[in-house]
Amino acid sequence: RRTRGAQGPLAGRKVVITAGPTHEPIDPVRYIANRSSGKQGYALAAAAVAAGAQVTLISGPVSIADPDWVDVVKVESAREMLAAVEAALPADVAIMAAAVADWRMAEEGRQKIKKEASGALPVLKFAENPDILATIGHHDSLRPQLLVGFAAETQNLVTNAQGKLQRKNADWIVANDVSPQTGIMGGDSNTIRLVSADGVEDWPQLSKVDVAERLISRIAATLNSED
Ligand code: CTP
Ligand code: CA
Repeated sequence: RRTRGAQGPLAGRKVVITAGPTHEPIDPVRYIANRSSGKQGYALAAAAVAAGAQVTLISGPVSIADPDWVDVVKVESAREMLAAVEAALPADVAIMAAAVADWRMAEEGRQKIKKEASGALPVLKFAENPDILATIGHHDSLRPQLLVGFAAETQNLVTNAQGKLQRKNADWIVANDVSPQTGIMGGDSNTIRLVSADGVEDWPQLSKVDVAERLISRIAATLNSED
């Protein structure tokens, strides 16, 4: 067995967690981003630290103060987040809770785009961002033993999550119904369906802190049973 420093079910384990949105600059004053508070990812980092893990939290821009209880790497764009994740690996577990922007600008303007006197509208040209979860999931040497993704969906929750599980070669997808009638987007709670090759597990509506604690103890139980 490995030597254990910290106490807890994840003692001696390394965990990498992504959190928050990414910002993709359009010009020096504007950006593209997903809505994301970062609360779920930061709660996961807290739960993993409490379980004794060595944690690296890779965070996009959020309004949460930089914690002093975990190693934080702050990034802006999806490409920076991918580089930070690769630099933080190898790890036993990676949890990709970040809401990564799917697209960036094909070319970032060096000057602020100005309104045209004629009223002509700007046309933005996009390029697709790298998929961090899929990149790590298909990595020969750096793929963690347990790779967990998130999926916020407004429809076909389980089918979409199962597709992501396969395409990205993840072990679990933490699927989360964010259709407008749930009123959950940006709030403090989530109703999770945990999707894996073994099937779908329905969790009750829980606070993000409780989701984090439940997911971390599930991860610890899985790793400790695979030892
Ligand atoms: N993800 C990622 N890199 C991306 C996009 C997504 O690592 N460029 C990760 C997210 O962190 C999350 C999972 O993939 O863990 C699912 O993200 P989601 O946006 O739901 O998946 P997409 O494949 O981008 O599909 P969609 O068209 O629904 O946005
Ligand atoms: Ca996406």
